[in-house]
Amino acid sequence: MNKLALITGASAGIGFELARQLAERGHDIAGVGVGRRIHELPDKLPHVQVLPIQADLATEEGVAHVWSEVEALGRQIDVVALNAGKSLGGAFLDTDLAEEEQMIALNITSQVRLAKRVVRKLAEQRHGRILITTSMSALTPTPYESIYGPTRAFMFSFAEGLRQEMREYGVTVTALLPGATATDFHQTAGMGNTVFGSNDWKNDPALVARRGLDALFAGRDHVIGGDAKTRRAAVVNKLLPEQVKARRFAKDSKPS
Ligand SMILES: NC(=O)c1ccc[n+]([C@@H]2O[C@H](COP(=O)([O-])OP(=O)(O)OC[C@H]3O[C@@H](n4cnc5c(N)ncnc54)[C@H](OP(=O)(O)O)[C@@H]3O)[C@@H](O)[C@H]2O)c1
Repeated sequence: MNKLALITGASAGIGFELARQLAERGHDIAGVGVGRRIHELPDKLPHVQVLPIQADLATEEGVAHVWSEVEALGRQIDVVALNAGKSLGGAFLDTDLAEEEQMIALNITSQVRLAKRVVRKLAEQRHGRILITTSMSALTPTPYESIYGPTRAFMFSFAEGLRQEMREYGVTVTALLPGATATDFHQTAGMGNTVFGSNDWKNDPALVARRGLDALFAGRDHVIGGDAKTRRAAVVNKLLPEQVKARRFAKDSKPS
């Protein structure tokens, strides 16, 4: 019997690549998305069993629905990828507070709610691997995405701390920090009129997912998702003063 992986945000972008590559590595997939397109996942991954789950993770009901669907399978869970997330571009002066609150609900609150259920199950199993998609934005101030970056910093710190707690249960936690990646992400964030708006120069989501999964199965604490240039930028980010990084980031994120 195949292993089982639960992946949020599996209908598109990095999450779809995680699902595709986990299927290649012999995993059945429980994949979550908010819209109808998650129901296309079984046809895209015909060689494994796929359970598509349509749910809005930004709500408590959505998280509860996802968990009840997974529990109903009555199976051990081998891999969990907490990956779904979004951004919102623009000056904080102008952005809509309700949209920001919704992003916090998805990027932080839902992750904590789902992680609570996941870690209890994996600890009981004394087995499992958790991959948390955060971002290289966790390593820098993110002007013109001023709430998004802190949501990713929260998840990076959460992943590193949780990893230490879960050691004694035989459960690993790995944070994936993608650099800018060619998905719908920045368009969805309303950032079409920024440098981030073009996908021409960004990382391939397949490469980002592969680096995340290689690190996950090697039991590493975190990994940068992207090419050599992206990985060099991450090293530099750890050295530069915050205000220098803020000015650099704004060049790419400020609306033209
Ligand atoms: N792309 C980048 O440049 C980049 C860089 C660094 C980090 N990241 C991180 O990578 C992760 C994935 O981003 P991506 O680029 O792959 O984005 P994406 O292509 O826009 O995909 C987002 C995925 O999340 C799902 N989703 C969105 N809102 C949801 C909700 N309320 N409930 C459940 N599912 C929801 C979407 O489902 P639907 O298809 O149904 O909408 C989709 O499957 C995010 O956590 C992001 O912070 C991305």
